[in-house]
Amino acid sequence: MEKGKILIIDDDPLICDLLSGILKNIKGCTTDTAVDGLDGIEKIQKDKYDIVFTDLQMPRLSGMDFLRAAKKIEPATPVVVITGCSSIEGAINAMKEGASDFVTKPFRIDEINSIVDRLISERRLFSKITENADYDKIVKGLNLELFKRLQEISILHTISTELDKIYDNREIFERIVEMASRLLKVKEASFGIVENGNLKIKRAIGTRERTIPISGTLFEHVINKRDYYLASFGEVNPHSGPPLTSPFFSIPFIIKGEVFGILNLANKADGSEFTEDEISIALTLAKKAALRIENNALYELFYNNLINTLKSLVITIEARDSYTMQHSERVTGFALEIAEVMKIAEDEKDAIRFGGYLHDIGKISVRDTVLLKPGKLTDEEMKEIRLHPVIGYNIIEPIGSFKSERLLIRNHHENFNGRGYPDGLAGDKIPLICRILAVADTYDAMTSTRPYRKALSHKAAINELQRCSGTQFDGEVARAFLQTAAGRGRSVI
Ligand SMILES: [Fe+2]
Repeated sequence: MEKGKILIIDDDPLICDLLSGILKNIKGCTTDTAVDGLDGIEKIQKDKYDIVFTDLQMPRLSGMDFLRAAKKIEPATPVVVITGCSSIEGAINAMKEGASDFVTKPFRIDEINSIVDRLISERRLFSKITENADYDKIVKGLNLELFKRLQEISILHTISTELDKIYDNREIFERIVEMASRLLKVKEASFGIVENGNLKIKRAIGTRERTIPISGTLFEHVINKRDYYLASFGEVNPHSGPPLTSPFFSIPFIIKGEVFGILNLANKADGSEFTEDEISIALTLAKKAALRIENNALYELFYNNLINTLKSLVITIEARDSYTMQHSERVTGFALEIAEVMKIAEDEKDAIRFGGYLHDIGKISVRDTVLLKPGKLTDEEMKEIRLHPVIGYNIIEPIGSFKSERLLIRNHHENFNGRGYPDGLAGDKIPLICRILAVADTYDAMTSTRPYRKALSHKAAINELQRCSGTQFDGEVARAFLQTAAGRGRSVI
């Protein structure tokens, strides 16, 4: 750091000496002192200073009045106000009037150090610009640089927000290739997974999706070094084989220290080389996407473990009641068939896939004597059974996500006419997936032998579904069921 010339204004000679000592001995600055604001003004009129430190309360002319006057005489000279801990408000007011910073008494050497360093380097930079004959050119250059940085920040923000919305890895591969080709303006882009000595291209623009043996190609270098590779003209184009006639840029996707995928960018639209900025953008994209893919893998692992744990729980519940063995599996299958016919959204099908298995999980709370009772249930016992949707909902609730699945568990015994339980919802107020599950659940219950009755035939069960269409069941869902394999009497399970 270059040494500076500093003026200290304070009516207390002790403060002047102390601050002057710090600045001279530690920062190697030249110092000058003034006893009050008027004295300070005389000094800055005669001499140039890099920084002025001024006390606020002084006789003749206060620090604040000095600051206002100094900003008119030497607007570029930074003024730092000296204040006691109890008068921070004065320092804040001084900052509003144009002071560059403030220091509090007693002084902290590191604080003074960093203030002086910052202000002197700012002042040197400012002098360089203003003293330079090409002032306009420099400012334009700096603005251009600033604009470029803003563009980069905006690109990185776009990358982050776009990738954060995607949970499916295939979609991520597609988006990476699309974003990279757009941002780096290349005609050829591909993303491949490293597998058994090959790079399996999963998504490509301007080149073919195929499997490329890694051995002997530049991919080997990328994998071994775990670093990007910029191939030169004349090297082999690993996409197509012939010598390269334009730059080829390969970027590894690294998870836990291993290269699991490679992004390749080649053949820039304007025929130019890849710039440092473009390389930096591509590397950021790769880093961000790899993190996203890793998170997705972790999420998938967590999700699968959770589903398997809950499925085991359901199997345990069903094992208590031999009549209902695999009931949840069959119900889920029927419900998915209906969902297929009704062409509902994929995320709703996912909710059925997960929630269907768990719809009766709340039965864990029902006593065996009630669950397995061969005769008619008493009102009390019926009440106990009817608690299972809410208990199931409460079991899943702590997981936090899976809102649709939770509703599926809670509302699978609602009736279309509002006479079901536990919430007495009616019509469209019952989520569609719950209306679907209700039909699937009832059909399976009717066609299974229960402790208190034999199974109904398929035909009898369908007649019952049709009879209760529009009252217990949503007619549209019941009609959709009739179009499924199970509804036509050909069970797929
Ligand atoms: Fe149920």
